[in-house]
Amino acid sequence: GVAKKTKLHAVPELTGTRVRLQGWVHRLRSQKANVFVVLRDGTGFIQCILSGDCIKTVDALDLTVESTIELCGSVEKVKEGQNAPGGVEVIVDWWKLVGKAPGGDEAFEGRLRADTEQSIRADLRHLELRGETATSVMRFRALLLRAFREYFHKTRVTEVTPPCMVQTSVEGGSTLFEFEYYGAKAYLTQSSQLYLETVLPSLGDVYCIQESFRAEKSLTRRHLSEYTHLETELVFIEFKDLLDHLEDMICTVVDALLADPVSAEIIKTLNPDFTPPSRPFMRMDYCDAITYLKEHGITKEDGTDHIIGDDIAEAAERKMTDQINRPIMLMNFPKILKAFYMKTIDGRPDFTESVDVLVPGVGEVVGGSMRISDLQELMDGYKRTGIPHEPYYWFTDQRKYGTTEHGGYGLGVERLLAWFLKRFTVRECSLYPRYMGRATP
Ligand code: 4AD
Ligand code: MG
Repeated sequence: GVAKKTKLHAVPELTGTRVRLQGWVHRLRSQKANVFVVLRDGTGFIQCILSGDCIKTVDALDLTVESTIELCGSVEKVKEGQNAPGGVEVIVDWWKLVGKAPGGDEAFEGRLRADTEQSIRADLRHLELRGETATSVMRFRALLLRAFREYFHKTRVTEVTPPCMVQTSVEGGSTLFEFEYYGAKAYLTQSSQLYLETVLPSLGDVYCIQESFRAEKSLTRRHLSEYTHLETELVFIEFKDLLDHLEDMICTVVDALLADPVSAEIIKTLNPDFTPPSRPFMRMDYCDAITYLKEHGITKEDGTDHIIGDDIAEAAERKMTDQINRPIMLMNFPKILKAFYMKTIDGRPDFTESVDVLVPGVGEVVGGSMRISDLQELMDGYKRTGIPHEPYYWFTDQRKYGTTEHGGYGLGVERLLAWFLKRFTVRECSLYPRYMGRATP
């Protein structure tokens, strides 16, 4: 019969018909009378069997993994006791080679073994992305972004797209990427927070999913130079509302991903032990965290105990989170550790209404706070952190033209993915990760 051109995901529903398929040779196995091809097209995998006239040509004999082919054949259920993706296979009656991939050592598989050196893997990221694990991570990432957007749509938070090229900093000068902008100095944005704050009076609650840039001058498992930043700003809220929102947002997104068959399957494959966090999340005051670290012998890098006012470094934070082994909302950081915009706690002027969400295996995935709503306090904030206020006039205006209580947060998408899918590093969760020394491919 006439072959219906179809994508691979739809093939199992077409059992008993003749189909026309296009894709890449994902796996290849030759027997005397048959060549078994697992075909891949980005929507699925289908086993195809070439035999008889189909393997009499020279092409068939030197078919290689990662070659592109097109074929026609009939879809049949596999015999009982046999395994194939979707429970079907395609008996090929016609095929052609579209693009041949090099075989032998130069073939994809040969170049990217498990023991392949890191820098070579990074050079070959464009090929690594064809592998099953990377494909699963990227597909899951797409579903995660969709789940965020659905959550915000349902809760009436509006998406905006702030600029990436800016002339102000948010999180301090040391990690700014600077570039020349028509003869003036400009930066790649570290955070869209200040821009989100400016549209609260026009759109109400807002969020963005935008690249942020940090010149991180060290190589760690969880730092990228460019990362996808989900940021939200909520108006007319108190600190408690911000904490409740974070819990609700994370749990709803987890539930959505476990309910979707595709993402559920990916979690089951890559992180079979994943358990959804239970509500309420553990809430821990910064000062109690300092006590915890001391009591559990988790010291600073120099071997001394943490004292109040100390930043909790990456290693200590992760050790604590791994021991507690559930998400933690770490709250009320000292003012001296924090950016100019953070609101202080009533009656505890040296501490801020701030929260980091920490998760096992990764550490900090979210950083958020209530924002200063008082003009004079904001001016003091600029001064305290040594920031000239003039370039921030548009931000300062928010405190002049109808100020109000509000707060928000930023979430590192790659870090959340690393937690979900138990990846060792955030680099595996970015399409083409950027970190110190790497901007290719
Ligand atoms: O804690 P951060 O620096 O907070 C802010 O930028 C706030 N202005 C966000 C806001 O309130 N709108 O960054 C927020 C999150 C971190 O918790 C972390 O998950 C992620 O962004 N992040 C990084 N992810 C990967 N690589 C890096 N270099 C990151 N720096 C921060
Ligand atoms: Mg932070």
